[in-house]
Amino acid sequence: MINIRTAPPSATLDTPIDHLSACHRRIEERLQTLERVGPHLLDRTAEALTALQAVFWFFDSSGATHTADEEESFFPRLAAHLTPEEQQFLNDLELEHAQAESIYDALKSHVAQLTNPPAEAEVARYNDLARELCTLYRQHIKNEDARFPAIAARILTPADLDAISQEMKHRRNL
Ligand SMILES: [Fe+2]
Ligand SMILES: [Fe+2]
Repeated sequence: MINIRTAPPSATLDTPIDHLSACHRRIEERLQTLERVGPHLLDRTAEALTALQAVFWFFDSSGATHTADEEESFFPRLAAHLTPEEQQFLNDLELEHAQAESIYDALKSHVAQLTNPPAEAEVARYNDLARELCTLYRQHIKNEDARFPAIAARILTPADLDAISQEMKHRRNL
C-alpha cells in the first residue's frame, strides 16, 4: 500500500519556533519582489503594480500576523526569563518592527499615489523606500534567526509552546 502523508496547512503551526523561520523565508521572497519590481514601474507599469498589490496583501495579512505572533505570543512569555542583554535584544527587535512598519506604510502610500505611468522621480522614491525596507527587514530577520530560536527553545515549556501554537492558529482562523 502506498501511504501518502499530506501535511495539513496548519502543520508547521504545531511547531511554532520553526514556523517563525519558515515565515522569514516567505517574507524574504516578497522583499526580493519589491526590489525586482522597481525597474519595471516604467516599462511594465500594470504588471508591476499587480505584483506590488500581491506583496502588500501578503504583508498586510501574513506579515502582520507574523509580527503579532512574536510580539503577543512569544515575547511576553520570555520576558521574565531573559538576561538583561537578551531583554535588550528583544527590545531592539520590537523597535525594528516599528521602524519596518513605518517604512512599509510610506512605501504603500507612495505606490497608491503613483501617476500612470509614473514619473522618474516617483520611481526613484519607490526604489529608495523599497531598498530601505529590504535592508532593515533582511537584517532584522538575520538577527532573529541567529538568536531567537535558541532563546525561545531554552525558556519555553511544552505547555507554553502548545499555548503559542493555539494562539497562532486562532490568529489565522484555523
Ligand atoms: Fe520580527
Ligand atoms: Fe520574525
